[in-house]
Amino acid sequence: MKVISVENLSFKYRRARSYSLKDVSFEVKKGELLGVIGPSGSGKSTLCLALNGIIPNSIKGEFSGDVVIRDPRTGEEYNTKETPVSKLPTVVGLVLQNPESQLFNMTVEEEVAFGLENLGLDRNEILRRLRWALEVTGLRGLEKEFPPNLSGGQQQRLAIAAVLAMRPAILVLDEPTSQLDPVGKREVLGLVSLLRKEHGMTVVLVEHHTDYVFRFADRILVMDDGGIVLEGTPREVAEEAETLRKLGIKLPASLEISHELRKRGIIESPAFTEEELLSRIGGPSG
Ligand SMILES: Nc1ncnc2c1ncn2[C@@H]1O[C@H](COP(=O)(O)OP(=O)(O)OP(=O)(O)O)[C@@H](O)[C@H]1O
Ligand SMILES: [Mg+2]
Repeated sequence: MKVISVENLSFKYRRARSYSLKDVSFEVKKGELLGVIGPSGSGKSTLCLALNGIIPNSIKGEFSGDVVIRDPRTGEEYNTKETPVSKLPTVVGLVLQNPESQLFNMTVEEEVAFGLENLGLDRNEILRRLRWALEVTGLRGLEKEFPPNLSGGQQQRLAIAAVLAMRPAILVLDEPTSQLDPVGKREVLGLVSLLRKEHGMTVVLVEHHTDYVFRFADRILVMDDGGIVLEGTPREVAEEAETLRKLGIKLPASLEISHELRKRGIIESPAFTEEELLSRIGGPSG
């Protein structure tokens, strides 16, 4: 079942000279993890904003094409340009590129409850969702903390908790680990895996950490200059090593090495992990 369908989407910010998205089309199926990679300025964040209707409803500009979101739980379809911005976050949640910019309350629990109060839910439902969102993100026990005092990984998980509390079926994460240390990165990417496996969520993940994307994404979109230049499974995208290199996208080390070994005729197909690489070349684990 398709849950996101983007058709011929183009967008130009109001005062910008050129289009930030140029005739972008793709689909995402229920339960998929779609990885989005591409150089800085290629339109990844703009695309995220368009997926939950902030573009064109709150951030205006020249918009054409369609973004249609289908709620897999009800089957209902929402064309973002015709849907009130208050409705979309309950179907497609967006975690912005800067977690701090999304946190503005005095305590962790207020941060998560904030959006819920605006949904007009009753007190018990708010508490239920608050507890659930903090539980899934591993933040139980930190309810009374001042968000700026949390670690980077905790702040990012809090931003995710606030979005999850709205109970979206689809989660869009814009570079959720870019400002985190290795521990924070693991915490956040572990959470992404959990949300997919245990909560059946569909995830669109913009991520520079290509190790994770190539290993766990079902499909990858590679963006450049507002358009999609490559789209396919990690294996298909990894075949295009030259294109990726030209865009300055760093492949996981095991893939870089396997490309080199292929050029020399030592192995036949790309290896995604170190273990795979070792087994191809008949190393210790193979
Ligand atoms: N509010 C805005 N007004 C005008 N132009 C903008 C605005 N936001 C982004 N742009 C332009 O749109 C293009 C795409 O930007 P976007 O932020 O979507 O790229 P990105 O792929 O997310 O980059 P990064 O990897 O640095 O986050 C860039 O040329 C950028 O300068
Ligand atoms: Mg961005």
